[in-house]
Amino acid sequence: MVITNTRSVGFRIADLPSVPVPGEALMVTPEHFEVEYVINPHMEGNVGTVDAAKAWVEWEQVKAAFETAGVRVHALRGVEGLPDMVFCANQSLPCIDADGHRSVLMSLMHADPRKNEVPHIEQWYRRNGYEVCHFPPGAVRDFEGMGDALWHPGRRLIWGGYGFRSSLAAYDIVSDLFDVPVVALELLHSDFYHLDTCLCLLNETTAIVAPDAFTSDGMALLEALIPNLIRAEGEEANRWFACNATCPNGRDVIIQAGCDRVNASLREKGFIVHEVSTAEFLKSGGSVFCMKMMVW
Ligand code: ARG
Repeated sequence: MVITNTRSVGFRIADLPSVPVPGEALMVTPEHFEVEYVINPHMEGNVGTVDAAKAWVEWEQVKAAFETAGVRVHALRGVEGLPDMVFCANQSLPCIDADGHRSVLMSLMHADPRKNEVPHIEQWYRRNGYEVCHFPPGAVRDFEGMGDALWHPGRRLIWGGYGFRSSLAAYDIVSDLFDVPVVALELLHSDFYHLDTCLCLLNETTAIVAPDAFTSDGMALLEALIPNLIRAEGEEANRWFACNATCPNGRDVIIQAGCDRVNASLREKGFIVHEVSTAEFLKSGGSVFCMKMMVW
């Protein structure tokens, strides 16, 4: 079932079956990270400008922040010639079923220079005991994994962004394969080219959202299903990537520094805010959320 407007929402999130919160994360080391091409507006003007030493320090700090929040981090080595492989939220969408069986759907990258990342990530899943699935040949044009498909924390529901990097048609297949309803949200602005740049699900009832990114149907769906929406506006949203934060445990939020209004709202609601710098990765259009894949 793929839901595109509030008229077809026939459930309350609290009534959906539960899903365990993933306790581990995969990260890809940044030795080959660079801005080498421009496939999103944030990369414009940044080709060749990544400071490799700074990127390493930032990457280590993000990793340490996850560890402090109780997440075990697996580090996979980056691959030469694949400068965006560090953004390992994009090459896959993992799933766990009610019996604890773990599977993963591999992405069909929209961006040509990123297509060769997928087999490396696939190997990691195979080594770690996941059943690996692929889209049927020719069924779907593109799908960029957890850049666009976000699990609702703790519940069997996926939020699916489409329009720039993923096709709406991908979500029929995701929904059938994982037996999960998908709420599909069209993305309107190229600054917010992945759903994880404009929606951050923190816990079952709270999310950070960049309203500029969505259609009125999309905003209506978010408002109908998520009681506490923290709105990220202006530069906090499109420059500091407030919505690309991660809350791995319902309490700790790891977020790019500088999102002052969003962070004040988070603290008011009782979240513990861990500010990190991802300045080198922002040059490529990514921040905390994109730099890891939560896994079971
Ligand atoms: N340069 C990368 C790209 O455009 C950044 C990806 C960031 N990842 C994300 N999930 N938003 O593909």
